[in-house]
Amino acid sequence: MANLKVKVGELSLRNPVMPASGCFAIEYSEALDFNNLGALVIKSVSPKSRAGNPTPRVAETPSGMLNSIGIPSKGLAYYRSKVLPPYTQFDTPVVVSISADTVDEFAQAVAEMSLPEVAVIEANISCPNLEADGMAFAMDPETTYKAVSAIRRSTNHPFWAKLTPNASHVAAVAKAAEEAGADAIVMGNTVLGMSIDVRTRKPKLGNVMGGLSGPAIKPIALRMVHQCYRSVRIPIIGCGGICTAEDVVEFMLAGASAVQVGTASFVDPGIMQKIIDGLTAYCEEMGVQSIHELTGQVKLDRQLSDRWLRFAQQSG
Ligand SMILES: Cc1cc2nc3c(=O)[nH]c(=O)nc-3n(C[C@H](O)[C@H](O)[C@H](O)COP(=O)(O)O)c2cc1C
Repeated sequence: MANLKVKVGELSLRNPVMPASGCFAIEYSEALDFNNLGALVIKSVSPKSRAGNPTPRVAETPSGMLNSIGIPSKGLAYYRSKVLPPYTQFDTPVVVSISADTVDEFAQAVAEMSLPEVAVIEANISCPNLEADGMAFAMDPETTYKAVSAIRRSTNHPFWAKLTPNASHVAAVAKAAEEAGADAIVMGNTVLGMSIDVRTRKPKLGNVMGGLSGPAIKPIALRMVHQCYRSVRIPIIGCGGICTAEDVVEFMLAGASAVQVGTASFVDPGIMQKIIDGLTAYCEEMGVQSIHELTGQVKLDRQLSDRWLRFAQQSG
């Protein structure tokens, strides 16, 4: 039997498969045994109570979906007492995802959520920085550095920085997150997109633009995981369009130590178990004894890829 165990920094996971924040809820326990997943990543919470974005909040697109949910929140106290506890009854590390509007709000929220029952804090720095121009923190290495270093000072918990693919210099952003003290990088969130109803001539999302997810973004996310892998030494968790065990293997070969599955779980709530079973089958078929050996093992012509990488780092 293949060994599916992986490590993300100090944290050991029974396998590399975990849900992506916002694409998973406690009700999924009816379709999945949570004790079989690598980790449980909960929907982002923001410290301020908010209603979320105007409706409609989702729209289907070829090979993906657009969403502009907007992180509706009832605040941290409600989250601590009502949302978090059901996830802590499983023998699987719990990852709390936090979104915030400012650097200070991030630091305070992370400090407050650094609870013994929480294994990891994931900071969703793909959300808008309201102190600046509303661009996501992770669109820029400098704002990434500021946010991540403030978060680092506020917690001793393992902490992952979730980056956005809507950044032109993703390798530089990843480097800034590493230098500021992130324990790992999650690459990444949704790709900004838009869709218009040609009969009403109105945008299909109430918020006009939203995040594209699903198979449509997989090549983009995979490319960015590889750029990050070539840029940092901390572990990378790949995310974007993963639907099959083969997709997971691709992300691991590109440099991911683990992965997150988002939109695919809306199509099939049991998909993560199928992916885990598929990984066992792949390892057995290919004679892979420990899946962690796959990380970064894509075969490249080094000279060519170095040249390409320099170009990619300059041009984004
Ligand atoms: C409906 C929906 C809600 C999401 N909510 C969050 C969220 O609260 N926090 C977050 O960091 N990412 C959120 N995401 C982004 C996903 O976690 C993931 O990064 C993205 O969807 C790409 O992965 P996928 O293609 O497998 O879905 C959300 C995505 C969708 C589709």
